[in-house]
Amino acid sequence: MIVGSKKARLKDLLGMLRASKGYVSGEYMSRMLNISREAVWKQISMLRGYGYSIDAKPRLGYMLIDRPDRLYPWEIMYELGGSSMVKEIIYHDDVTSTQDVALRLAEEGKDSMLVVAEKQSKGRGRLSRRWISPYGGVWFSLITKPRVSVRNATILSLATALAVCKSINGSFNLPARIKWPNDVVINYRKVAGILIDMSVEHDVINYCVIGIGVNANVSIESIEGMMSDEDKGYHYYYGSTSLMHEMGNKAVDRVKFVASLLRELEGIYSRLSYKAEILASIRAMMLLGPVSIIEGEGKDARIRDGIAVDVDDDGSLLVKSNEGMEKVISGYIHIRYEG
Ligand code: BTN
Repeated sequence: MIVGSKKARLKDLLGMLRASKGYVSGEYMSRMLNISREAVWKQISMLRGYGYSIDAKPRLGYMLIDRPDRLYPWEIMYELGGSSMVKEIIYHDDVTSTQDVALRLAEEGKDSMLVVAEKQSKGRGRLSRRWISPYGGVWFSLITKPRVSVRNATILSLATALAVCKSINGSFNLPARIKWPNDVVINYRKVAGILIDMSVEHDVINYCVIGIGVNANVSIESIEGMMSDEDKGYHYYYGSTSLMHEMGNKAVDRVKFVASLLRELEGIYSRLSYKAEILASIRAMMLLGPVSIIEGEGKDARIRDGIAVDVDDDGSLLVKSNEGMEKVISGYIHIRYEG
């Protein structure tokens, strides 16, 4: 585990290497950072240990050649710039579930904290489902305290999905859309999922843990290969995709993507009280059209057709079916789009 705020020296040194076009001498860094030459060398070895490629030349010093494809806290903070939504980042290489770690921290009173992992061994999806989270993805949970009433909880997951869509569309020019209530799809295949856990007291949200999983640089085969036949056989499973796949098998810069997603989240969450404006943006990004309404699971599931026509002001989905106009409430019924 790495606690971002505990790496000030490493961050400073990396900042100097980054700022320089060429080599930076050890002597200069030791003077500027007010540390010994030996301490400079120790930090350089540490950075190399983290996967940074740093060249060293006698009499010239050190030059940063490349950074690793890792979601290190200082890399995310560097790309993010200032943020009021993320004050601290906890990084895990391999963890059970960032959501469970973040929930424990939220219970301890932590706020504005991001828990990120390269891999999860027990990733959780909605309705107690498994969330497959191999290396290459973006798996994080953010502790936050949105100023909205618990009645607007469905809006929170839609607003989060909106942020994911906007960052995917903006960063990669891909046609990401919201699949009600909290999936993000590209060409009708799931690229990201959202899980929101919250603690509520007297209709007021005490804290909220926003879990986001994005299939970034993972192959579809690796995700589907890890799924059981049962997982794939469920009525709700409609296929997976990844950013890398949609980009023609080109890996994306995950650090830049996470930073852009956090910026979108911050922008949207800061305007949650402007409900009409947020709903308008959600509606513009929402996948509508022919759907199957699935009630129950497995053999007993009841499936009927309908047309998703709009999102209601409370975040529920309005579906026209033979039975008239239905208001579909999150968590009760599953909707499958007929893409
Ligand atoms: C879903 O579509 O069912 C929601 C998936 C949410 C997955 C994310 S990955 C980060 C966070 N940690 C978890 O264990 N789950 C969420």
